[in-house]
Amino acid sequence: MAGSRDAKEEIRQRVGILDVVSEYVTLKRSGKSYKGLCPFHAEKTPSFTVSDEFQTWHCFGCGEHGDVFSFLMKIENLTFAEALERLAKRAGVELERFQDRQTSRKELLGKLNALAAAYYAGLLKRTPIAIEYLHNRGLADQTIEQFHLGYAALAWDGLVQHLTRKGADLKVAEQAGLIVRGDRGLYDRFRHRIVFPIFDIQERVIGFGGRALGDDQPKYLNSPETPLFSKTHSLYGLNLARKAISEKGFALIVEGYMDMITAHQAGFTNCVATLGTALTLEHIKVLSRYTQKIALAYDADSAGMAAALRGAAMFDEAGCDVRIVRLPGGDDPDSLIREGRVSEFAAAVAEALPIVDHRLAVLREKHDLTHPAGRAAMLKEAARVLADVPTFVERERCIKELIRYHPNWDVGPTQAQNQIRADVEALVRRRQGGAGRKRGSEAAPKPATALERAERSVLRALIRKEEGAEGVLNTLAPEDFSSEITSAAAKAVFEMFGQKRGIYLPDLLELVSEDVGAFLSQLAMSDEGPPINEKTLQDCAALIRNSGLKKMRTSDILAPYIKQGIIDASGAPREQTLEELKTFLQKSGKLPEDDEQ
Ligand code: CTP
Ligand code: MN
Repeated sequence: MAGSRDAKEEIRQRVGILDVVSEYVTLKRSGKSYKGLCPFHAEKTPSFTVSDEFQTWHCFGCGEHGDVFSFLMKIENLTFAEALERLAKRAGVELERFQDRQTSRKELLGKLNALAAAYYAGLLKRTPIAIEYLHNRGLADQTIEQFHLGYAALAWDGLVQHLTRKGADLKVAEQAGLIVRGDRGLYDRFRHRIVFPIFDIQERVIGFGGRALGDDQPKYLNSPETPLFSKTHSLYGLNLARKAISEKGFALIVEGYMDMITAHQAGFTNCVATLGTALTLEHIKVLSRYTQKIALAYDADSAGMAAALRGAAMFDEAGCDVRIVRLPGGDDPDSLIREGRVSEFAAAVAEALPIVDHRLAVLREKHDLTHPAGRAAMLKEAARVLADVPTFVERERCIKELIRYHPNWDVGPTQAQNQIRADVEALVRRRQGGAGRKRGSEAAPKPATALERAERSVLRALIRKEEGAEGVLNTLAPEDFSSEITSAAAKAVFEMFGQKRGIYLPDLLELVSEDVGAFLSQLAMSDEGPPINEKTLQDCAALIRNSGLKKMRTSDILAPYIKQGIIDASGAPREQTLEELKTFLQKSGKLPEDDEQ
């Protein structure tokens, strides 16, 4: 419902967030904002903060944050549409006024996308190399048809020409992100790519993904967000998979377009894919209409597994039964199936593990369990995993499985069980001692270094539109910022500030990822004292700029050595190199030989 932006904006202006929140939480003024006990987690000291200035809320205890809509959705357990309706009524805003405009715009976008999809599908039929590419990737003609796959030609203006001939409105095509306005006029967004039309469950073409045929970057290109298309809400293939999801009683989620198509062709018809974004609560909401059982089949690499765990935790919190499919190293569902190892994939899906069991399995693989020291190390990490498990019964089940890894095999099972349980419970107690802060502090760790403080100061000054803040825009680039999160935050803040001469926090939060949003919300709402003066702000900017330069220079200087393998990416000499050096020095008599013992 990204298209209801205008309505949202008007409602936000008319209903103050303070009024709405006050109906659920007793708020007390504290500096510029208001504080109360968080309604979303148990706490004794107020860390739930509401800002009239920003029209947002943030809990420094649990890390939850958002605007008036998300507050009402969470507290009343409403969908966005329901919250919108309630607040519209309260504000006296007629939604129809906005919705009519929205519906017709969406309709136009859908029609235009359909036109483009047909054009790309036609081109594919006439382009042998593209067909050959898909055949090489194991797709049958029937599958190509079923998914309406297409091809976007090498030319800069194939679609522009086609749409012009058809008398289509190029403005709408621009809005759909299919054509782009450049210095020399309009050109096609997708070129020399396999095109995957993305359908919603009403079978409308809401957007596209494009896979480079060659080594062009990026490998995959997607349509931008439009009133019709939101990556965080859409699941590729759901239109084809939803029936099978209901029938088979679970959904299989994969990462890529090709994973989804290949799996579907191989009979895993309950498969859907995310569209190059992490799993979101919206995805979960959409799927929960069909099933509460989910299996995540992500790439076996570390990034894939980390993403799977993050997604799984979200499903788990939403009360779903979520399992993690463990694929052989280096494979994704597409590669496994294409190598003819369908039964291996089927087995992996059937044997998918609950989150805890998966995490424990990872630990067992990591340590050498034939030695007492390896077993002890594994159990130490396992205790941390078990401390996350909320129920006693579940913990006991896992502990029973762990007793055979007790470092001392002479110890009886009951004693082993008691010892492991004691370790886990000690950890749980220690965590409860510092309870309440877990998620909030994870989302935004306390700034440790001067550089981190400088980055926060600059961003905060911009968000609060403090005097002199604008000056730093010309002297800093988002790339100068030190971490992925701060530099993504800077990018969004700089862009919005540049366009609107200021920041509107609710809009900003919608433009960035969950992590970056949590960081920005926390930053805007935390009480870090009075505004800093212009001179200090310039000093902060200089510090950030210099560290950015230093980062660049260091990587320039180190690059050749990293390439030769003399040092690793962190700048440390590789152990092997030290060995080589030692041997060399020993051979040339400059270092005594090791004593044989
Ligand atoms: N993706 C994206 N943009 C990129 C890279 C990936 O949107 N630059 C998304 C796509 O939806 C892609 C998925 O992330 O399908 C998984 O990416 P990746 O694992 O890199 O690719 P594969 O699916 O393995 O692609 P292929 O098999 O075609 O090489
Ligand atoms: Mn792949």
